[in-house]
Amino acid sequence: MRTCYHLWRKWKEVYHKYWLDRPYRPGRKVGGYQIESVLGIGSYGIAYLASSPSADGLVVVKQTKPSRKGHPKGLAMQQYEKNVLESLQHPQIPRVVDHFVLNGQGFLVMSYMPGVTVEQLLFEYKRKYSEVDAVRLVRQLAGIVDYLHRQGVIHRDVRIPNVVMNGSRPYLIDFGLARFLGDPPTYAAESLDEYPEEKQVKRAVHPSSDLTALGHFLLFLLYSTYEAEETQPERSWREELSLSPDLRAIVEKLFQNEGGYRSASELIHDLDRFLLIQKAVP
Ligand SMILES: Nc1ncnc2c1ncn2[C@@H]1O[C@H](COP(=O)(O)OP(=O)(O)O)[C@@H](O)[C@H]1O
Ligand SMILES: [Mg+2]
Repeated sequence: MRTCYHLWRKWKEVYHKYWLDRPYRPGRKVGGYQIESVLGIGSYGIAYLASSPSADGLVVVKQTKPSRKGHPKGLAMQQYEKNVLESLQHPQIPRVVDHFVLNGQGFLVMSYMPGVTVEQLLFEYKRKYSEVDAVRLVRQLAGIVDYLHRQGVIHRDVRIPNVVMNGSRPYLIDFGLARFLGDPPTYAAESLDEYPEEKQVKRAVHPSSDLTALGHFLLFLLYSTYEAEETQPERSWREELSLSPDLRAIVEKLFQNEGGYRSASELIHDLDRFLLIQKAVP
């Protein structure tokens, strides 16, 4: 019996992925926008680069997955993302251009931030970040996060694929998991207790979740210059990276629960001090 259900679920998954949720092809028109290319396929939606005859040039269209029709993590979740983005006004955060519903699927249209993600920079372009380069970038991101927190928004998904670089300027995108301070961390259907502890910290509607994410982000950049020996067993960043004592102290503090950073501005203070000592003021 179990096997049958397992098979049924697998079949449904494949059907969703390869048929129901197959992305639109370039050239297709949706709500007056022409699809140019697929930017990414996530668990909840599909992001496209599109052109708009009326608006100025290129936009990003985020479509809820057809298989999510009627699901609480479909349209309702997208509506929340729209509300969050509309409450913000920052040159390094996308701006909502339009929103419409077609056949039960939501389409969120936003400004396009040209560039490449930090994920692409690291793994495709093999970009190496020195300590100063890494701190400079995280300092800029912390500035955006500080703005968000002051507006009462926690992003909860600050990761390398969600930061687009245009030259040396970062843009923070993907507000799909963002929450207003005071709102519950999960959607009605879920309970946070069912999350593993690590995920509870990561998804807490509290500034600390974004600050910890910035810690992981910084480590990702610093690992770009690390060369592992094939045979070596996996160790922690403390053993693998030989960081300068000042930077090590900052990273440690980013991961501390008690006595760690209480706000993005506290972090910015330390990062600026680090850059000043290194004589690398932006
Ligand atoms: N406003 C934007 N400007 C530029 N690229 C974007 C924008 N929004 C999304 N993208 C690209 O599309 C990808 C997927 O979009 P994202 O908002 O992160 O959705 P998902 O929830 O699927 O991760 C991103 O990693 C990025 O490459
Ligand atoms: Mg994303």
